[in-house]
Amino acid sequence: MTAMQGFIGATRRPGELGIHSVDHFHFVVPDIAVAQSFFGEFGLDVRAKGNLLTLNTFGHPHTWGTIGEGPRKKFSHMSFGAFEDDIDGFSKHLQALRVKRLDPPQGSDSNGLWFRDYDGNLLEIKVAEKSSPNEKTSFSQMSIAADQRGAPFRSTMPRTRPRRLTHVLLFTPDVPRAIEFYTHVLGMRLSDYSGDKVAFLHGIHGSDHHMIAFAHSDAPGHHHFSWDVGSVDEIGAGAMHMLDKGFSKGWGLGRHVLGSNYFHYVQDPWGSFSEYAADIDYISATCDWKGGDHPPEDSFYAWGPNVPEDFVHNYEA
Ligand SMILES: [Fe+2]
Repeated sequence: MTAMQGFIGATRRPGELGIHSVDHFHFVVPDIAVAQSFFGEFGLDVRAKGNLLTLNTFGHPHTWGTIGEGPRKKFSHMSFGAFEDDIDGFSKHLQALRVKRLDPPQGSDSNGLWFRDYDGNLLEIKVAEKSSPNEKTSFSQMSIAADQRGAPFRSTMPRTRPRRLTHVLLFTPDVPRAIEFYTHVLGMRLSDYSGDKVAFLHGIHGSDHHMIAFAHSDAPGHHHFSWDVGSVDEIGAGAMHMLDKGFSKGWGLGRHVLGSNYFHYVQDPWGSFSEYAADIDYISATCDWKGGDHPPEDSFYAWGPNVPEDFVHNYEA
């Protein structure tokens, strides 16, 4: 088959067992109409499917998340994508580590390998197309030459439409244990961390600097979803649109240190966040990332406004 120009197939680190993607997440909220409004305004392609909402990004076939109804907002499960010829290896690996296999949760038609992590989070490893990127994602930082207008007119600025999910950050009472579990059981790698407060993990087959991250809290919970956009202008336009629609609380514009992405976080109706992220670092399948332990002042943000008081509050606790 002739390779399509500009198309890069799934990258893979040979001979090692590891998930390649966060395939999708699922959480519940008391009123899915509220979720439909928030994520729709955020710029996602939100659709009703039975009694669920699906979260897609425009122009991308992948479903990044589903939302159901429950008594209060609660992160419910996360499915990780693996290569088809690794599933048998994962099955044996889970058995060797004495990780108890479970039936799929009610309402799920996915028959991957289901189990719980040390915090009780329900996880699945399933065969899936690699939805994590196979190369560094493009980022536009154009400077306009003399005698031309650089900025867009506000009246003609397009709505911000994120291109894909980049990562999910969860709360845990035990960050070192999260590192241990997600590296040993799921075959991820530690990118960077700060003591026992925060840790960032990437996929071994090529992924963003973090596909999943953990921050310390008294209890498990979900802190944010992060959505990739193509420029700082898109971050700003997205933030302004959300402000116009009444979603005024959040944090940004700023730049992270670990992961390097420019960010603006919008607080959702349940106290957690969705992040517009641009230019996050990328770790190739062939790269042995030189990460490490960084002091708090060098691990959070390079610049940005003061951090809101409840930014790291766990509303699911
Ligand atoms: Fe993030």
